[in-house]
Amino acid sequence: MSANTVATSFFDDQEPGTSGLRKKVRIFQQPHYLENFVQSVFDSIGDFSGQTLVVGGDGRYYNRHAIQIILKMAAANGFGRVLVGQGGILSTPAASHIIRKYKAFGGLILSASHNPAGPDEDFGIKYNIGNGGPAPEQVTGAIFACSKEISEYKILKADDVPLDKITSAQLGGMQVEVINPVADYAALMQSLFDFDAIRELLTSGFTIAFDAMHAVTGPYAMHIIEEMLGAPDGTVKNGVPKEDFGGGHPDPNLTYAHELVDILYADNAPDFGAASDGDGDRNMILGRRFFVTPSDSLAILAANANCAPGYQGGLAGIARSMPTSAAADRVAEAMGLECYETPTGWKFFGNLMDAGKVTLCGEESFGTGSNHVREKDGLWAVLFWLNILAVRKVSVENVVREHWRKFGRNYYSRHDYEGIDTGAAEAVLQQVRDQFPKLPGQTLAGRVVKHCDDFTYTDPVDGSVSCNQGVRVLFEDGSRIILRLSGTGTSGATIRIYLESYEADTLQHDMDAQDALAGMIAAANKISRLHELTGRDCPTVIT
Ligand code: G1P
Ligand code: ZN
Repeated sequence: MSANTVATSFFDDQEPGTSGLRKKVRIFQQPHYLENFVQSVFDSIGDFSGQTLVVGGDGRYYNRHAIQIILKMAAANGFGRVLVGQGGILSTPAASHIIRKYKAFGGLILSASHNPAGPDEDFGIKYNIGNGGPAPEQVTGAIFACSKEISEYKILKADDVPLDKITSAQLGGMQVEVINPVADYAALMQSLFDFDAIRELLTSGFTIAFDAMHAVTGPYAMHIIEEMLGAPDGTVKNGVPKEDFGGGHPDPNLTYAHELVDILYADNAPDFGAASDGDGDRNMILGRRFFVTPSDSLAILAANANCAPGYQGGLAGIARSMPTSAAADRVAEAMGLECYETPTGWKFFGNLMDAGKVTLCGEESFGTGSNHVREKDGLWAVLFWLNILAVRKVSVENVVREHWRKFGRNYYSRHDYEGIDTGAAEAVLQQVRDQFPKLPGQTLAGRVVKHCDDFTYTDPVDGSVSCNQGVRVLFEDGSRIILRLSGTGTSGATIRIYLESYEADTLQHDMDAQDALAGMIAAANKISRLHELTGRDCPTVIT
């Protein structure tokens, strides 16, 4: 075995997006493409000689191949040890926990989250730092800069490391430990939630369905929900991870998780339903014929945090991404807590958690989490809900309705227009920006516009400033229209329009969100001239 230095030339498209580098598999399969990016990471993160790296992914196509390359490159670059999940599997939250628990220098997580998988679909890689969270912008910026100058990379000439058995192997001077991907994570969940109370609930007639969507949460959910918590066999649907996610689109929302939605809206529906995404960091919560919006879910977890042993000591604060509804702000205010508003993407929460400023955080995009790791965590949210239901002994719908009665309802929806020409998408946002000077004071959808801007975030911990994080039209009554472009897509542009209006009157809490927001939707389409500029007359996905 010897280390080999391989000459390469740079690629100009290796800029990490909202959550790492995501491209079509075919792009990653170009000679040197993955190697260049991995070497750019290693060249940007400081002195790791002799240290530990965590490696694992969501099991999608190319995962195993990429892991072998990473192991050989980590050995050639001087890591002392790599912890890799058995079969190459680690959910994103489990990887975050393992980085923290074993005090690793960092980790490489292989996933394109909820994007479809397979030879013609997507692959992704991201670097997480020693706190277990996604690399902050200074690091991703340095990686991108390196990727534009790279001329060689280091890789060990060696046989592939067998990944299917829990074992350890020597690779050059580096130790490879193949670890159980579930055990540490399951123990962490057990330390946070009242497993006895949840087991009692699940074995006394309360019925649930969990859809792992053929992605990474299958083994985690089967072990925790069926084996540890005693739910009947078959509670976890689609629990075997597949390289192509069974041809599906493992994004837990009403559109893509329709198999679960059909079960929860059927006549004999279970009491509770949940799904997670490709890499296990997202969650969707359903009651019997009832959908909980992710924004409400964050607010409800915060308001009921004292049901879960891990949070009974109180919350330090709450954080939500800017487009997420302000439902959590109302809970924070009532509880006397600070509520932080960050740009989209989990990386902004890490600093707040490390500084002890927040305990819970969430995004409207089906992401909720806490300071137990530095990623959002799908199964954690499911267990938190089950813990609340086990303690309160009321239905999901009643928990939510009672919450609205107390705090009011933030009607909320996101409309996505996928696969738009990049120039047209930019033009839509610019169209709204051009009206910033004249919109304030105008009435749209019966509401008066108070203020418009491009959202800028100044990190309260390190003072770093992130500009252009979304176009905002803010109304006097707290309603909002927000537009931004996705940073995770792999073809064309995706315009996201976020719509929110607040309703205090309990008698008005029974409307369908699309109906309640109809005026706001029409106003958003009008001020952005979206239909004219893109040629689209309806969204691809509504959540
Ligand atoms: C999307 C979501 C965002 C989430 C990210 C990673 O990013 O909107 O909230 O953090 O995926 O899961 P976007 O495509 O909007 O940039
Ligand atoms: Zn994900």
